[in-house]
Amino acid sequence: MTTTPAETSTIEDLRPAIEAAGQAHVLSFVGELSSAEVEAFQAQLVSIDWASLPGVIERYRGAATAETTGDLEPAVVCCPCGTPGDVAVDASEARAAGLELIRSGKVAALTVAGGQGTRLGFDGPKGTLPIGPASCRTLFEVFADQLSAASAWAGRPIPWLLMTSPQNHGQTLRFFEERHWLGLDREQVRFFTQGVMPSFCPESGRLLLSNKGTLATNPDGHGGVVRALVGSGELEWLERRGVEHLSYFQVDNPLVPPVDPVFLGAHIGAGGAPSSGQFSSKMVAKADASEKVGVFARRNGQTSVVEYSDLPADVARSTDEHGRLRFEAGSIAIHAASVAFLRSIDEAGESALPFHRAFKKVPHVDLASGERIEPSEPNAVKLERFVFDAIPVADEPMVMRVAREREFAPTKNATGVDSVESAKKLQHDRAAAWLTERGQACPDGCTLELSGEAAWADCAELEYTPRTTPEAGSSAVL
Ligand code: UD1
Repeated sequence: MTTTPAETSTIEDLRPAIEAAGQAHVLSFVGELSSAEVEAFQAQLVSIDWASLPGVIERYRGAATAETTGDLEPAVVCCPCGTPGDVAVDASEARAAGLELIRSGKVAALTVAGGQGTRLGFDGPKGTLPIGPASCRTLFEVFADQLSAASAWAGRPIPWLLMTSPQNHGQTLRFFEERHWLGLDREQVRFFTQGVMPSFCPESGRLLLSNKGTLATNPDGHGGVVRALVGSGELEWLERRGVEHLSYFQVDNPLVPPVDPVFLGAHIGAGGAPSSGQFSSKMVAKADASEKVGVFARRNGQTSVVEYSDLPADVARSTDEHGRLRFEAGSIAIHAASVAFLRSIDEAGESALPFHRAFKKVPHVDLASGERIEPSEPNAVKLERFVFDAIPVADEPMVMRVAREREFAPTKNATGVDSVESAKKLQHDRAAAWLTERGQACPDGCTLELSGEAAWADCAELEYTPRTTPEAGSSAVL
């Protein structure tokens, strides 16, 4: 559960803590392991917080109580684009304040890239997926190019923190090494690894072994980012450097502006934005009631994200007097958070970021026979944290409306909705609209994409001349 294992502890050093946690059975097969296997097992065991484990298991072994949604109200949304009903934000004032934050080195970008991309069926870290419709750039390269342009404008390298998981850390690092840090300064790109949570049997409260020398674990969710930032020393690094705010985004959205001046300025309350500068989020109007995005809502008067799986279909479909979905504020998982707020969230621990419980099929080793069992029914509790659970803890958390076609191209599935194909098309459409806004037509049959410089110039409202003039039937990076 922590990210800074004291590498020197042996299994015998750890045994008392493991026994005290009631989990001595996980050491049943240690005598059968090779020295390399013992070493690997030690490294895993030392990363578990044995002291707090019994309490965590006790709290989450029972079935989750159903979320109550009866008291849900739509969230207050602000907007720099004049949508009726939203709190108005002055875009130029917000942009000026955001640019000043970036220029003065007070902003770092943060990408959560620890997920396993199971739905995508892609063999490798999701960020290494080629996604550019004209360039074939990978997701990581798309972000790096914009950060490079923003850094050149600021006259200083904007730090980029990437959260990996134990499963994809090595591959992610190799990718950046092989591609020379994607054109960024080596020191600018900072990796840290999220923690894991062990799976356990809800009846016995015992941890499971996935083989004789490995606990069955899962990454602790994107909410693990807070603990991992602290445990890895990265939060302290940011504090020492004078970075005050993080621009947070998921690895699966090639249209995200990694640092968006308007959003960052609004986050610190510029332009009349209703924000204390602790935690802010972007929303887009849901495409339809069944779209699989979390929604911003007020629960017991506090702004929160309600996951799509927790929002009853009739509530999701309900409309207001204008015929709009009442809960239209879809989360695109783009946030801004102050470093000081994240520090306080870590100190508050589970009361600020609780675990979410899932009951899943987890293959494991049978303790009596030593055989591996592939369960046909769910047998184990998996726990993870969600970063958006920090929202209700923040003072005056801001939710800002942005245009879906400019900022959201989710890449979740192999085909169909939210797929690589749809994300490529959305990037082309965005680049074509950009050309049209500048009075140029999009030639027939061409495939377009915004370069990092163009995308940065667009959100910072800077002058920019496209690298090339697209011709009919061509592929062009503007
Ligand atoms: C997520 C949000 C949803 C939002 C949607 C927008 C959750 C539970 N839901 O859905 O509210 O509307 O995105 O696209 O987050 N990750 C880690 N470590 C982990 C787990 C995930 O780094 O342990 C990262 C992934 O690499 C990815 C992101 O978090 O960048 C999202 O994870 P995913 O599980 O794919 O969330 P979604 O269900 O797509």
